Amino acid sequence: MQKIKIGIITLSDRASSGEYEDRSGVAIKELLEKWLLNDVEYFYKVIPDDYDMVKSSLIEFSDEKKCDMIITTGGTGPAKRDITPEATEAVCDKILPGFGELMRLESLKYVPTAILSRQIAGTRKSSFIINLPGQPKAIRECLEPVFPAIPYCIDLIEGSRIETDEKVMKVFRPKGK
Ligand code: MTE
Repeated sequence: MQKIKIGIITLSDRASSGEYEDRSGVAIKELLEKWLLNDVEYFYKVIPDDYDMVKSSLIEFSDEKKCDMIITTGGTGPAKRDITPEATEAVCDKILPGFGELMRLESLKYVPTAILSRQIAGTRKSSFIINLPGQPKAIRECLEPVFPAIPYCIDLIEGSRIETDEKVMKVFRPKGK
């Protein structure tokens, strides 16, 4: 089984200044540890909501660290400092609109303000990039419904092959893939 690389980037002015702890980044790692069978090398950053810093962190995790998947949390809403989707779009080769659509649709089952998240996903080189909202509880609410499609997406962009524990996260690949 291949070793995979995953980048986690928490976007928060307050978490990056040490005002509070980053619970969402931790929640992402905990969830992935339950689902994934591969050995994983994690790269992790907590940064302020700064457009250039988000862009350069995404580029670093994709081009230098060669992460198969990069997950951001926070900065997806309408507030003046929220720029995560714009920075993500700026570094992506392709946008995959279905991920944002499905995450918002599923999130509406939990909270009417789900519609406020502008979260997107896309690809850069062999990295799959996805935005999650900043709320710790939003991590599972968003990632669980879309995750079944992510490993095959990463196969298609020639990233590493991701294997999951089917008892807790069953992914889909077309027959023979
Ligand atoms: N989606 C889920 N699944 N659960 C949530 O609690 N919070 C919403 C929305 N999407 C939420 C959610 C709220 S209140 C906001 S303002 C937006 O995500 C943007 O959050 P962000 O700016 O922290 O990314």
